[in-house]
Amino acid sequence: MRIFFTGGSGKAGRHVAPYLAAQGHQVTNADLVPLGHPDVHDLQVDLTDAGEVYSALAGLATFDELDLDELPSYDAVVHFAAVPAILRVPDAATYATNVLSTYHVLEAATRLGIRKVVFASSETTYGVCFAQGERKPLYVPVDEEHPTVPEDSYATSKVANEVTARSFQARTGADIYGLRINNVIEPHEYDEMFPAFLEDPALRRRNIFAYIDVRDLGQMVQRCLATDGLGYEVFNVANADMSVAATTAEVIERFYEGVEVRREMGAHETFYAIDKARSLVGFEPEHSWRDVLGAPRS
Ligand SMILES: NC(=O)c1ccc[n+]([C@@H]2O[C@H](COP(=O)([O-])OP(=O)(O)OC[C@H]3O[C@@H](n4cnc5c(N)ncnc54)[C@H](O)[C@@H]3O)[C@@H](O)[C@H]2O)c1
Repeated sequence: MRIFFTGGSGKAGRHVAPYLAAQGHQVTNADLVPLGHPDVHDLQVDLTDAGEVYSALAGLATFDELDLDELPSYDAVVHFAAVPAILRVPDAATYATNVLSTYHVLEAATRLGIRKVVFASSETTYGVCFAQGERKPLYVPVDEEHPTVPEDSYATSKVANEVTARSFQARTGADIYGLRINNVIEPHEYDEMFPAFLEDPALRRRNIFAYIDVRDLGQMVQRCLATDGLGYEVFNVANADMSVAATTAEVIERFYEGVEVRREMGAHETFYAIDKARSLVGFEPEHSWRDVLGAPRS
């Protein structure tokens, strides 16, 4: 596929954009800064500018395309660019950047007839991550039916983006899939970060004790690109196990007193349910911190 990938120079994108190129896709990275990867074409775009977004999405992807009789159109958009958390820029700027850029990407994709958009939403939409004080999920495992009523600018921008995406999808019937991505972990971060998580599981309370290996995130995006006809859907994206060594029973006892436990859970099963991604697009995460740090998987 000819893919317009936004935010390919960031923490997640710098793995996922080359991963998609390795699957045989032609990938354009639309970002404020270049990635500099040999298999990905960089195009400097400010996505908060509607004209730039439209122009970039309607334009050439590579010099090679000058030799074609007709300018091809993009087959899919993967939209990852964002301010990815609170406390990077002022709240108003976080909200404005994320909501404006996503509106522009969705509008341009819709008007140009692109039938597949995969966009990054967030675990934070469930309101636990950036709540003032401690907020528990209403129930566990947290699935996509859990209410999304956050308190902060970043997660609110992601909820607004989901509403925008649903509206554009209703207009066109295209496939627009939102990924409620959990905390992204790069391979080198297991050694750096996880020993502390294993010692003190409280460090992972705000992430619902979950994580997503960036390579498995790449697999999820690839599966979304390969699965047509779902219309508008949102998916939790996480690894199959928790990011802590404690068992689910221990976590429930210590952190989830009074929280409804909706079904029996495996000893290390994630509290961030990925059943929907598994059943609708065939997502099957392959990686785990357990392989790196030498802990048994079950
Ligand atoms: N990192 C995580 O743990 C995590 C978790 C859940 C969801 N997400 C979401 O996944 C996506 C990727 O996150 P990340 O961690 O790679 O973030 P990042 O900040 O590392 O990368 C974001 C990229 O977007 C680009 N960008 C920002 N504003 C732009 C603009 N106006 N025009 C063009 N490019 C712009 C930046 O230059 C950067 O390269 C984001 O949408 C984020 O909200 C991330």
